[in-house]
Amino acid sequence: MANNTVLPLTITKLTIKIIMLKNSRILLTLCFIFILKISYAGEGMWLPQLLKALNEGDMQSMGMKMSAEDVYSVNQGSLKDAIVHFNGGCTSEIISSEGLLLTNHHCGYGQIQSHSSVENNLLKNGFWAKSKKQELPNDNLEVTFIVRIEDVSKIVLEGITDQMSTKERQSQIDKNIASYKQRMRPIKHEEIEIKPFFKGNQYFMFVTMTYTDVRLVGTPPESIGKFGSDTDNWVFPRHTGDFSLFRIYAGTDNMPADYSITNVPFKPKHFLPISLDGVEEGDFTLVFGYPGRTNQYLPSSAVAQTMNVLNPAKIEIRDKALKIVDAAMRSDEAIRLQYASKFARIANYWKKWIGENQGLKKSDAMGRKHKYEKEFITRLKADRTMHGKYGSLLDDFEKLYKEIEPYALTRDYYNEIVRRNIEIMTVASYMNRLENLYANNGATGYNGFKARLEPFLDNFYKNYRPEIDQKVFASLMEMYVDADILDGAKGDLAAMAKKHGGFDKYAQSLFESSFVPNKNQMFKLLSAAPKMAIESMQKDPLVQLAKQLSDAYDANVSTEYNNLNTKINDLMRIYMEGQMEVFTEKKFFPDANSTMRVSYGKVAGYSPRDAVTYNPVSYLDGAIEKYVPGDYEFDIPKKLLNLYETKDYGQYADSNGKVPICFLGTNHTTGGNSGSPVIDAHGNLIGLNFDRVWEGTMSDINYDASICRNIMVDARYILFIVDKFAGATHLVKEMKLVHPKKDAKVIKMDAPKKKEKRRKKRRG
Ligand code: ARG
Ligand code: GLU
Repeated sequence: MANNTVLPLTITKLTIKIIMLKNSRILLTLCFIFILKISYAGEGMWLPQLLKALNEGDMQSMGMKMSAEDVYSVNQGSLKDAIVHFNGGCTSEIISSEGLLLTNHHCGYGQIQSHSSVENNLLKNGFWAKSKKQELPNDNLEVTFIVRIEDVSKIVLEGITDQMSTKERQSQIDKNIASYKQRMRPIKHEEIEIKPFFKGNQYFMFVTMTYTDVRLVGTPPESIGKFGSDTDNWVFPRHTGDFSLFRIYAGTDNMPADYSITNVPFKPKHFLPISLDGVEEGDFTLVFGYPGRTNQYLPSSAVAQTMNVLNPAKIEIRDKALKIVDAAMRSDEAIRLQYASKFARIANYWKKWIGENQGLKKSDAMGRKHKYEKEFITRLKADRTMHGKYGSLLDDFEKLYKEIEPYALTRDYYNEIVRRNIEIMTVASYMNRLENLYANNGATGYNGFKARLEPFLDNFYKNYRPEIDQKVFASLMEMYVDADILDGAKGDLAAMAKKHGGFDKYAQSLFESSFVPNKNQMFKLLSAAPKMAIESMQKDPLVQLAKQLSDAYDANVSTEYNNLNTKINDLMRIYMEGQMEVFTEKKFFPDANSTMRVSYGKVAGYSPRDAVTYNPVSYLDGAIEKYVPGDYEFDIPKKLLNLYETKDYGQYADSNGKVPICFLGTNHTTGGNSGSPVIDAHGNLIGLNFDRVWEGTMSDINYDASICRNIMVDARYILFIVDKFAGATHLVKEMKLVHPKKDAKVIKMDAPKKKEKRRKKRRG
């Protein structure tokens, strides 16, 4: 780990010295290239179909023993056939010949929760199907395989010229895609999706297959699967067994089929064997999954805006909301249960943005961007046509980002306050939607949406406390009015608060007089004929407020924001093209866009600040250190305590006799990589990705090899919990456990003997 931190520093110093000595431009450029290459080691979310062309050598030099074809192949079974998109948001992987599927506990949380009740609380107690018959089917869960990926840029961009307006360009692209899809006519069960890459400079087609009968097989209790909860979220050392097990079922032809008892376990083209040999610092790690969204190629003006304007605003808003909810949760166990999941969702990105901002500063993201941009301009100047094409981009960005700033900030305030953190405003906005649907599509439109709304509302009120939301309302609406954002978005909020004698009283009056916070009144109203219901809705003060604020936002913010944003996206496409043309020595990977990617790195600890160094592996001993009996974040199940005391670890302990829980790597990952398999040099599963370290969350914008680390559960901890803790030994038997390191040693030790034998044979 130390070399990772020290290397770029040393080279920078060296570079400066050389520049001072020679002061030649060629050298400066060369050194710049060198710095680029060094500091980007470990960075990248690569396209699996391009590994052979771009990464194979690099991966093998880092220790990988496989070929690119072993990772991704269209012609034969490869690793990619074991990697599954889990319900569009997370990643999962197949770990047995019978379709057993591994993902994170927090990815399966909704499903686990849906099977839980007070009498049978799977979240609290965990769940282990003793046989396939006991596995639990799930509504609204689907998993998707990639059949193949193809470059369709030429087809999609046919007829596109530089002279086209954005609109013309997009409509030509849409036409090309539509006609191509029609020509392609996928075979039964296959689907086609075409997505832009490199900001619309390239297009790839994904042929996919989606299975919808996916059953819950096992989950540890929350005290293992969510150990440390929000306090430990985004933090190392970590001791969370963040995993759950599902199984894919198929029709008897192994093809996708709706749930049926006659369905059979899916037979995969490939599944991942699991290594029992564990990890050490420096081991090769490959993370294969579906990262959601990154912004690696932004101009400095955009990074500055995120860092100095947008992130601080969002953090401050959530800070206020979370404090109110946290106080309520601490005062009452019932509230804690009702709000735990909502709190976790809001707190997750609040904490991420704080880390991101600190990391952007610490890694000098601005300095790096400026240096990069200066080099971009210097190189452009050497080529007239290129300078003509790209020379004004950075100034144009600067202007556009300045222009969009008030709109972008208002947009974030609106989204965070009106649409996310004050719960009742969302529900009130649905009343307006009912009204609109009735106006446009009559009773059919109204009833269609109402049918979807009712189960949502039923669930919503179960976990809703108006008295908490009222406080959030008062606090955040006051913030909205006081904020330095576009006044047009604020409606009459200020006047109304004044009229009532302040935001607390205004909130109280609204919550008392509106039917929206009250479940009985809401359902009574929805049971009336549409016309009558709408009349009552229109008179309701909260519904009115939601409409007023939404109209104000539409009229004063969204149109202009979208216009400017379209211009920015246009420039971004050209800037991306320019960067790729100018930095020919650099290997580019496209920003994450929820498509399948490979990121490779090494097991490594890190040193986030002076005198602080993290080892790459955490152990069960550390969980015991954190243990607080009865605590909702740090409790530990008795059975696990017993296993620890008796050191009953079976084959799952490390060579030091301890049970490993988590480890760190330099893999470049982001949201969506949760549940991604971590694969060793030979193609075996060694871990399960679930988080990043706090100091490194700026890797979405500025990856820095010295402090960006992903956090994974050690595969041996998963096996230990399934086997020793849960006694679900039948599941472990279904998996293929291997010893790649031990085998390699045996082969090495055997090698001289074999040679000797051969020699003897020849002689004899
Ligand atoms: N930080 C991880 C991710 O971004 C885990 C989130 C779930 N856990 C939690 N405590 N909120 O999804
Ligand atoms: N927990 C994240 C997820 O659910 C992964 C962590 C990250 O953002 O890297 O996808």
